[in-house]
Amino acid sequence: MTLTKVFSVDPLNPCEEALKMCCEVVKGGGIVVFPTETVYGLGASAFNGEAVKKIFIAKGRPADNPLIVHISRVEQLYEVADSVPEEVLNAVKVFWPGPFTVIVRKSARVVKEVTAGLPTVAVRMPAHPVALKLIDCAGPIAAPSANISGRPSPTTGFHVMMDMFGRADAIIDAGETLYGVESTIIDTTSKPYKLLRPGAMPIEKVAEVLRQEVLIPVQARGLGEFEKALAPGMRYKHYSPETPVILVEGLNTVQAIKKVVEELVKEGKRVVAIVSSETAKNLETPIRLVTYGSRANLFEIAKNLFKILREIDNMGVDIAVIEGVEEKGLGLAVMNRLRKAATKIIH
Ligand code: TXA
Ligand code: MG
Repeated sequence: MTLTKVFSVDPLNPCEEALKMCCEVVKGGGIVVFPTETVYGLGASAFNGEAVKKIFIAKGRPADNPLIVHISRVEQLYEVADSVPEEVLNAVKVFWPGPFTVIVRKSARVVKEVTAGLPTVAVRMPAHPVALKLIDCAGPIAAPSANISGRPSPTTGFHVMMDMFGRADAIIDAGETLYGVESTIIDTTSKPYKLLRPGAMPIEKVAEVLRQEVLIPVQARGLGEFEKALAPGMRYKHYSPETPVILVEGLNTVQAIKKVVEELVKEGKRVVAIVSSETAKNLETPIRLVTYGSRANLFEIAKNLFKILREIDNMGVDIAVIEGVEEKGLGLAVMNRLRKAATKIIH
């Protein structure tokens, strides 16, 4: 068990002294949980293999699952990447700081522990004052989401404390994160560019700025066979509560959910239905309903998603039935997470 220092800071005007102490921890080879605009990250210096190994131990993460390197200035891209296509450079200048991650060829300085031995590296510049200041002080930081492997990514200080207290050297709690889903990851190392993970930056916008089609493999939608994962790390089970989750997709979900719930109740199961506010209004059912937001506001749904997935196990139910959303904009990221969390999908 590690003695974890916890700092609670104002996200917009963080305490300089706290950041300085955390910067020293990173420089000294320690691991620090810090907020980003997407989810919390668990960071170490991207140039220190021994420090990066501690991240894998703290998370219980398989060593073959590479990490994202976080930078605070575009020029740092050249410290961590070997070659960057012109159009990728243009795109990151549009999207950074922000929830957009590019896979490019790695520089020799980035240690192999970060990239799991791959010749490529994932890079992004987070749009959070705390993250940017920490990186400015400590240099490029390799960081996965700060959850214990397999759990939903942490979007609040409370989630971080649950998972990383006693595991990380320091935690910077800056309250709830803005988006609540992780960054969008694009592989630019071969053409056509490929979406590896849909995230907070809609792929439609990315394609528009790159001025080319970006391939969306079925795996990026959370479908397809696990064995044929896009990236080594995406093979692993993700986001799933202990409680079984049935995902109901498609049109007319109100009737479909009603039917599924009725059958489960008949079997004597205690059921919760997690639905949009629109569906909640039309669903006549005696069981407990939890709303994740309005279908007209995917931003809200994405933001609530991980919090709700984490809460399912404390709801006192045998099974959860969740309504799917349309795969447009942020909906693609939401559906990717829901499909990975689901034990069963119904159309
Ligand atoms: O929003 C985010 O991206 C958050 C915050 C903390 O920045 N980070 C995050 O990291 O979600 P993580 O480790 O949970 O997810 C990164 C994903 C993994 O699935 C990993 O397999 C993939 O990125 N990845 C990293 N490097 C890669 C590479 N060189 N090639 C292919 N995939 C890579
Ligand atoms: Mg993660």
